Amino acid sequence: MDDTTQAIANLRAQFPATEKLVYLDVAARGLISRPVRAAVDRYLDHRMTEGADKAALFEQVERTRVRFAEFIGATADEISFSKNVSDGINAFATAMPWQAGDNVVICETLEHPANIFPWRNLAKLKGIELKIVAPEQGRIPLDKLVGAIDSRTRVVTLSSVSFSPGFRFPVAVLGAECRRRGVYLVIDAAQSIGILATNVVAQNIDVMASSMQKGLLGLYGAGFLYVRHEIASQLQPVYLSRFGVDLGSGHEAASGDLEHYELAKGARRFDVGNHNYIAAVAIERSLKELQAIGIDAVEKHACGLSQRLAIGLENAGLPVFGGASAPERAHMVTIGADLSDKHDKADDPAVTGFHQYLLANNVRATIRRGMLRFSPHIYNNNDDIDAVIELARTWSVDRNASSFIKARAAGA
Ligand SMILES: Cc1ncc(COP(=O)(O)O)c(C=O)c1O
Repeated sequence: MDDTTQAIANLRAQFPATEKLVYLDVAARGLISRPVRAAVDRYLDHRMTEGADKAALFEQVERTRVRFAEFIGATADEISFSKNVSDGINAFATAMPWQAGDNVVICETLEHPANIFPWRNLAKLKGIELKIVAPEQGRIPLDKLVGAIDSRTRVVTLSSVSFSPGFRFPVAVLGAECRRRGVYLVIDAAQSIGILATNVVAQNIDVMASSMQKGLLGLYGAGFLYVRHEIASQLQPVYLSRFGVDLGSGHEAASGDLEHYELAKGARRFDVGNHNYIAAVAIERSLKELQAIGIDAVEKHACGLSQRLAIGLENAGLPVFGGASAPERAHMVTIGADLSDKHDKADDPAVTGFHQYLLANNVRATIRRGMLRFSPHIYNNNDDIDAVIELARTWSVDRNASSFIKARAAGA
């Protein structure tokens, strides 16, 4: 075993859920490790027995900001703490100096509602237009997005990996085109952050919203918003609090010169009030774990497992969406013929039946947009994948899964 393989195996042992479950559901939420739990416990013990050392909490927040910035190739001033993806996107989108008739290019069918309603709302509030691009076989078509950009386009927005069917989008290529055209590229990174290597500079990303509970293996209700410095420094947040103002070295509750206050540097201006300190504690610890393995190795591991799963399920006769060798496959595998408009239900009884069978056998995966979605992460191993493939074989033989076979003919 080489050092990285050993480190990954050691890390798996820190996730108690892996002892009783085949957990392939990071796309819904990641697992919490023992060290993360211990860090959270220490924080709560401190709050319970001592109140809180506010200066230490601020230091904690800044350490976490710096660590996340390093993790994505940004600088600390380009990072703000948000509640989640929706909050991050809204914070940026509402701060833009829109003119009626400006437009946003988006492939709504493949976006999560988190990245739809903020723009729909602005269409009503500010008279912006949405230029909606149709998906092609579960993919967001790069050429159509680029083709939709015109002189009134201010933003192109999309998920780096869709929540279903889970294909990866060539962000860097679109980013280069957006930069050339003076259009901002806004990325919903909910499904890629913490699993796929992310570098906002190399990928030409202008704005990126993420949450903490999926690939970053942290807590719900907290996220990071990255806004490129040149852009952030021109924006006026719609919500402004003392943390969004440069108070120099003054107390956090001091107001300073109210006639001449300055906004905090870069994306810091989007920080609103007290932070979610417990989430910052948790994420600092889980980022440390991911960085110790190295995000390239994390990506290779998760994508290797999904490739193994896709091949195994296809060989077992299941309709792997896009085929096992789809070049856009990252760390997700989805089973089914096509996307449905139902969020968490499937029309095909075979999809529901197989899902129930897996749940009964301690496998965790989720139905999204009518398809059964598997999503491994760093705590999974080949045994997890092989267990699911074996269950797929026994299930197909037992049930003569005829609708899967029909679906396969239609979708693969
Ligand atoms: C692509 C994508 N964006 C956003 C979210 C969640 O949004 P929020 O963090 O606002 O709850 C999810 C899943 O929960 C998702 O899959």
